[in-house]
Amino acid sequence: MDKHALNPDDLTTRLLLENKAWSEAILSHEPEYFHNLAKEQRPKFLWIGCSDSRVPAETVVNAQPGEIFVHRNIANQVITTDFNCLSVLQYAVSVLKVEHVIVCGHYGCGGVQAALSRQDNGLIIANKWLLHIKDIYRLHQAELEALPPDQRTNRMIELNIIEQVNNLAHTSIIQAAWKERKAPTLHGWVYGLENGLLKELITLNYNAPMENIYRYND
Ligand code: CO
Repeated sequence: MDKHALNPDDLTTRLLLENKAWSEAILSHEPEYFHNLAKEQRPKFLWIGCSDSRVPAETVVNAQPGEIFVHRNIANQVITTDFNCLSVLQYAVSVLKVEHVIVCGHYGCGGVQAALSRQDNGLIIANKWLLHIKDIYRLHQAELEALPPDQRTNRMIELNIIEQVNNLAHTSIIQAAWKERKAPTLHGWVYGLENGLLKELITLNYNAPMENIYRYND
């Protein structure tokens, strides 16, 4: 058998075959689609989401290729020493000049659930990533512990999203863009795995109040 022959039973082969069918279906309607898309990208949105396979950015907002610049990590965190996230943010804000940055978390987030538990000895790297969420718990401990236990995780998921939006506002990248062009607007959204719906939790624009210690000198 030709070693390059495609076996549709193979999992990754299935993806390649689906890709071929997808490309052909688009070209049959719009022969210039990829040719035009390849020229440049002008997304208006940066999406910072969770890596969870059930919350694919473009799919849940019915967006097309070219519309959303995407960064995803475990529990949709904006950690201001993470050069990966910051590089995406800088490119999106300073070069692509996106108009909106959306932090999108989701109910049922395994990353947040893990952060609310004792640390797993086997996941020494992931534990460190999740420590930042434990800090958010400590920041909002009084509010969280006043809630019935079955509501704590959902509220923690919401608070995590809100804190990540605040983290964005604290970066020089966002503050410089706000000063220069009064954009982007920052949004915190939570997605419901059980109903497929997004809910807005927080919106911050260039006028947002901010503690003096987080501001950069003019
Ligand atoms: Co998640």
